Amino acid sequence: MKIHWQMLVIILVATRTLAIVDLRRQKEVSTSSGRVPTDEVNLSRSQDNPMLFFEVTKPIKLPKEKPCSVQLLHHDFGYTYHKAPVLVEYRPPPNCQKNWTKVVMEWKATCKGRQYDRIAGVWLSGVEILRTCTAEPTAKGIEWIILKDITKYSSLLDKPQILEVKLNNVVDQTYTGVFHVNITFHFYGDNGKEGLDNPAHAHLILPISLPSSEIGGSWFQIENSSDVQSKSLQLPPNAYRAVLEIFVSFHSDDEFWYSNPPNVYIEENNLTGTAGNGPFREVVAFIDGVLVGAVWPFPVVYTGGINPLFWRPVTGIGSFDLPSYEIEVTPFLGKLLDGKEHTFGLGVTNALYVWFVDANLHLWLDDKSSSAIRGQLIGHEEPSLESSVVSNFKGLDGSFRTSANRRISSSGWVESSHGKLITHTSQEFKYDNLITFKSNADVQIVQQEIATNRKVIVESAKGIVLSSKVDTFFPLYMDAADVDGGNGTDMEIANVSNAFNKDVSIVAPTGSFFSSLNNTQNAGGYMITKNNLVQSGLGSTQEMYNYQSTEGCYSRAVSVSNYTFLSDSTDSFCGYTS
Ligand SMILES: *[C@@H]1O[C@H](CO)[C@@H](O)[C@H](O)[C@H]1NC(C)=O
Ligand SMILES: *[C@@H]1O[C@H](CO)[C@@H](O)[C@H](O)[C@H]1NC(C)=O
Ligand SMILES: *[C@@H]1O[C@H](CO)[C@@H](O)[C@H](O)[C@H]1NC(C)=O
Ligand SMILES: *[C@@H]1O[C@H](CO)[C@@H](O)[C@H](O)[C@H]1NC(C)=O
Ligand SMILES: *[C@@H]1O[C@H](CO)[C@@H](O)[C@H](O)[C@H]1NC(C)=O
Ligand SMILES: *[C@@H]1O[C@H](CO)[C@@H](O)[C@H](O)[C@H]1NC(C)=O
Ligand SMILES: *[C@@H]1O[C@H](CO)[C@@H](O)[C@H](O)[C@H]1NC(C)=O
Ligand SMILES: *[C@@H]1O[C@H](CO)[C@@H](O)[C@H](O)[C@H]1NC(C)=O
Ligand SMILES: *[C@@H]1O[C@H](CO)[C@@H](O)[C@H](O)[C@H]1NC(C)=O
Repeated sequence: MKIHWQMLVIILVATRTLAIVDLRRQKEVSTSSGRVPTDEVNLSRSQDNPMLFFEVTKPIKLPKEKPCSVQLLHHDFGYTYHKAPVLVEYRPPPNCQKNWTKVVMEWKATCKGRQYDRIAGVWLSGVEILRTCTAEPTAKGIEWIILKDITKYSSLLDKPQILEVKLNNVVDQTYTGVFHVNITFHFYGDNGKEGLDNPAHAHLILPISLPSSEIGGSWFQIENSSDVQSKSLQLPPNAYRAVLEIFVSFHSDDEFWYSNPPNVYIEENNLTGTAGNGPFREVVAFIDGVLVGAVWPFPVVYTGGINPLFWRPVTGIGSFDLPSYEIEVTPFLGKLLDGKEHTFGLGVTNALYVWFVDANLHLWLDDKSSSAIRGQLIGHEEPSLESSVVSNFKGLDGSFRTSANRRISSSGWVESSHGKLITHTSQEFKYDNLITFKSNADVQIVQQEIATNRKVIVESAKGIVLSSKVDTFFPLYMDAADVDGGNGTDMEIANVSNAFNKDVSIVAPTGSFFSSLNNTQNAGGYMITKNNLVQSGLGSTQEMYNYQSTEGCYSRAVSVSNYTFLSDSTDSFCGYTS
């Protein structure tokens, strides 16, 4: 038995040595860095120019004026493992106009040689602004650019900060790829507009993460289910709205958490080196030990995941800019405005080594209130997680159906110069996963669906002043078959279908907004590996990205096979024609 993709990509994350066993050959493999070598493709490509890798996303709407651009970082990430993060002083650029309305971060990187996919984080004084995965280089070299709208972090950009970048890489005789990374901030002004006073952006953002001096980076590294890591914060007494933004990525034993079988299967088959705990995971957020919210994450497949040939040059959904998740925690302000310290904790249900999790607390402050802001939590319900597993297996073959549900709801009022506002929030989650093993577990099929619904309703004495709803739906299908490739080689044939669907609707007396995103990738192909290096193979990927909103539309359809574009079309047309 061999669950191959679980061994193909291990993102090197920490100091511990992992000994992963190829179960079919019962032979331990390790590299000079003490880990399983992965997926670099030893395919010579004919093109001479570096290939441009990209993730399909909608373009950022930019003001017409030229930006004022400041390059903050130019660094070569060679052997960075066990080394402190790169720290750079950030100062609001004095010669850029102060009233910017849009700030875009540009991450530009090149790499040549053979290398794993690596995880990286970018923080401003502990507030995370980007979680990203590096692309996997080829011998001829690759390049990629990530553009991210960071305007919502304006309150930080207005003051001096420490820019921190952590990217663990190992360079040796086999893994030769050094990542050359440049980070530039582009400030776009728009005279006469509200600039920093945009009500959508918090006035203060506090980090729930480790200090920038931490050698392993500012993210918390969650190692198991009981590992809750926290930070104590004292909130300013004039906060009237609070939102937690959570960043998460999963690695090593939990990189492919959605395909992990239950422990009973591992125990009965005497398997060693197979990651278990079943396929259900959730990030849980606590304030003073009380569960206030959860994130049931989108299963991002990194650029080396399942079959690295699927992700060239179109990378997996979310791989270059991992989604963050927002939880409205305004109802709890009544408990937090007492001037005392409160703990904000983060954990991962069923976690195996290792999850990188941290959060940003976005706060809106009232400058006008003459008396102190008061508030009270008036209701909070968090019935425990409902979950079930139905196992049906004999030896290595069989199936496991895992289901889970959760609901959290809270209400609280806050009285500020905006009046007395009651905020009601609800979070609902649904999970279903079916794992099937066939042919003595040489074939594994995973079918998973995660649906979440978040609602916020804000009421004043006069009635509802805001109503917002965010629905996400993440269906995932994956099958992989391992076949003997002959001559000491292994062949993996796999298909993946992954989709990120998100609908947002905001209704306020001043106007309403809605958006709908359907982003689907289908990939299929094979690869032949020898000693965990890819000898040959083929990957084909189709992606359909369809975004509609009251502020405009964007769609793109891309089809790539064997590194070659078969088709690529974009459209900014709203609505369907017949
Ligand atoms: C990569 O391919 C080249 C040319 O086919 C070969 O000489 C070399 O040994 C291969 N390297 C590895 C590590 O397989
Ligand atoms: C920014 O805009 C405000 C009004 O919104 C104005 O008072 C201020 O002078 C502007 N600052 C600069 C540097 O343009
Ligand atoms: C990164 O910045 C350096 C210094 O400004 C420049 O020489 C280099 O060409 C840049 N690299 C890329 C990939 O743009
Ligand atoms: C979970 O992880 C924490 C943090 O590393 C560790 O202290 C604790 O012993 C672990 N618990 C279990 C049950 O392994
Ligand atoms: C697992 O190990 C136990 C004890 O050595 C043995 O009795 C059992 O047959 C083994 N099961 C399998 C499926 O190999
Ligand atoms: C195995 O290697 C031999 C000798 O190099 C070659 O003749 C044969 O075609 C190879 N078989 C496969 C299946 O690649
Ligand atoms: C994977 O998809 C290919 C066609 O794209 C199909 O021929 C193959 O049967 C699929 N594999 C499985 C295990 O379903
Ligand atoms: C996304 O899919 C849903 C359900 O299939 C559909 O109602 C919605 O209109 C789609 N949105 C877009 C932008 O295609
Ligand atoms: C992929 O393209 C290369 C040329 O770039 C070609 O040599 C190879 O045969 C193709 N592979 C498949 C499976 O079509």
